Amino acid sequence: MASTLVLGCMWGDEGKAKIVDYLAASADFVVRFQGGSNAGHTIVYGNQKYVLHTIPSGILYPDTTCLIGAGVLVDPTLIKEEIHNLEKANIDFSKRLLIDYRAGVVLPLHKQLDMENETKLKKSKIGTTGKGIGPAYSDLTARIGIRLEDLAYPEYLSERLKQLYTYHHKKLTDEELTKQIAELQDSWKFLKKYTGDVESILNDIANIKDKSILFEGAQGTLLDLNFGTYPYVTSSRVMTDAAGIGTGFSARRIDKVLGIYKAYTTRVGEGPFPTEIFTDIADRIRTAGNEYGSTTGRPRRIGWFDGVAARYSARINALDNAVITCLDVLQGLDELKICSAYKYKGKLYRSMKLHPSQFDKIEPVYESFEGWDADICNCKNKSELPKAARDYLEAIEDFLETRICLVSVGREREQTFTIKERKR
Ligand code: IMP
Ligand code: MG
Repeated sequence: MASTLVLGCMWGDEGKAKIVDYLAASADFVVRFQGGSNAGHTIVYGNQKYVLHTIPSGILYPDTTCLIGAGVLVDPTLIKEEIHNLEKANIDFSKRLLIDYRAGVVLPLHKQLDMENETKLKKSKIGTTGKGIGPAYSDLTARIGIRLEDLAYPEYLSERLKQLYTYHHKKLTDEELTKQIAELQDSWKFLKKYTGDVESILNDIANIKDKSILFEGAQGTLLDLNFGTYPYVTSSRVMTDAAGIGTGFSARRIDKVLGIYKAYTTRVGEGPFPTEIFTDIADRIRTAGNEYGSTTGRPRRIGWFDGVAARYSARINALDNAVITCLDVLQGLDELKICSAYKYKGKLYRSMKLHPSQFDKIEPVYESFEGWDADICNCKNKSELPKAARDYLEAIEDFLETRICLVSVGREREQTFTIKERKR
């Protein structure tokens, strides 16, 4: 069995879905292990754009089985809608999608709490996607949450819902309870054929020689609950080790970890972003890269490549290789910059060990690189890139202390090439 993990290594939207879709051509299984409908994974294939939120990005291949692990949150209404949309696009996957029965369920209450919390926080809001992710994960941690398997037991579910509302000091009338149970039973009728034991499937194939598994991360390491830019993070674990926690298939068994980085940096939502740029260059990049959130439509914040944060991410994920996406978006810029250190009160920091209250006040220290004019969208290998683009990639490798193995120069599957080794 061969297994590969694809991880977003900054604040999400690094182009993971395109890379997973590219690699899924040779995968038997594609597995999500964390996050939920807060993710927005965009794949462009054959003039058609698909935006996936909970369903793994391997779904476009007819022979790939897509698994959703126990660490993922499922919003029954939204996943049904996602399944229907794919069916409308003639993608048949009745036997190719399985959700672990332990997955957490997002309820309307969670979305309500998400919105209320954000309003309460006022200026210090997180800028969440509003999909109920924080409250649903918090409830699971507080052992008051609902799991997918609970939907099969209406009486048990009814008691759990009553406890949940009491826990949150929210009123739940008998009428509302009956309505919610009916809706969840309806969802269960639809979802039960897609529910099973993902942990068993993965561990059962672990010793089968010719099977391959691709683990698909959502969000990005700098949004990780423990190691991200807390408190401006998501509520799941977004690192290499999360693949084990979220599936029951130990991360120790994963053969290869690929970290995805965009050639520049973006962030949606609030929180520190040391290399953020506000000049017209940001607008140029936003337009060229279509940098608008796939889940919320929000314009993404744009910044230069942050070598400090990127190296931190490569290190805590123990990356085998890096993948650079959206290199084409930078074409036509005169100068490119990479942040090599943070300056705070005159002192240089090459690590992320600053307190959140200091992060907003740091000044990025940049190294400057030459840009290039040529259109690189059709480049098929590294040697076809202009020298400036090659130098830029090699500088990124030096910051990451990790070799780049794949480069994406456009949204289509074909606009991707591999790099075997670095030649100086
Ligand atoms: P939540 O995950 O909706 O609670 O949002 C917490 C933070 O993570 C916010 O800054 C969101 O914008 C960000 N976030 C959540 N999911 C994604 C994603 O898929 N891409 C980029 N940012 C995300
Ligand atoms: Mg996204």
